[in-house]
Amino acid sequence: VTIQWFPGHMAKAIREFEENISLVDIVFELVDARAPYSTLNPEIARISANKPHLYILTKRDLADEKLTRQWLNYFHSQNSAAIAVDAKGKFGVKDILTAINPLLKDKLERELAKGMKPRPIRAIAVGVPNVGKSTVLNRLVKRRAAQVGNRPGVTKGQQWLKADNHLELLDTPGILWPKFQDQLIADKLALTGAIKDSVYHSDDIALFGLEYFVAHYPQALQERYKLTEEDLELPTADLLLLITKNIGMRDDYERASNRIILDMRSKKVGPFTLDTLEDIDNE
Ligand code: G4P
Repeated sequence: VTIQWFPGHMAKAIREFEENISLVDIVFELVDARAPYSTLNPEIARISANKPHLYILTKRDLADEKLTRQWLNYFHSQNSAAIAVDAKGKFGVKDILTAINPLLKDKLERELAKGMKPRPIRAIAVGVPNVGKSTVLNRLVKRRAAQVGNRPGVTKGQQWLKADNHLELLDTPGILWPKFQDQLIADKLALTGAIKDSVYHSDDIALFGLEYFVAHYPQALQERYKLTEEDLELPTADLLLLITKNIGMRDDYERASNRIILDMRSKKVGPFTLDTLEDIDNE
């Protein structure tokens, strides 16, 4: 479901998130590994400033591995934990615990020293729509029987879901809005599918994707659409028309645009990442 974000919705999402954050030890902020900066919610750092953070870079399988490593290093340099995952592949509670243990070890040990009972770490997952929150939750919490029921402090029928003896997650992930103040970020979100029923025309998104691949992943583009090196020097609109012909859609560039977008999203052209560390400096 694509959510249209209005100021009222944003205020409500912040209010809910603020209530929930007081219940947890750590925030799991999910970002798309193909656009870790553009899918970072602009407000969350402010709201959750004093809580430890685990950045979960989802869709690692679709992203440029070299840039994923750079982004992981960046988040680590911000004193946060960070892991990159294919949420539909091999990934589980152990990976999470290994990543967050260094951040929470001292707090849990202090509690034990004070005579408090050992307890599971509590977390909430947050992120922009379509980033993979449900997939990650379902992967960590395998059975409905894993629900541990209501506890004091958990309102509105919210429940803690048990991942294992050491980790519990709030059952409703926080859904936050993406950055949308800037056209470039909007194009990136549209290409990755973070804005699904976008208000943008598919040919605009396809042109954006083609331009990006020509600049960053030219070989992948050549191979997928049977292009020569010279073809890549064409103005992007002409390149789109050429690809439309090459994939047998004659002059239906609208349909071809949709195909190209789907090809890119499903890694049929190749893995890619749209955000680099320079994007942070540029803001
Ligand atoms: P949300 O709760 O944050 O809104 O996201 P959700 O888990 O529903 O995931 C959105 C889409 O992203 C789903 O695809 C899901 O399968 C896919 N996805 C999530 N994590 C990963 C990942 O690490 N790698 C890949 N390749 N895909 C991921 P969908 O097309 O909407 O549904 P489906 O047919 O794939 O289930």
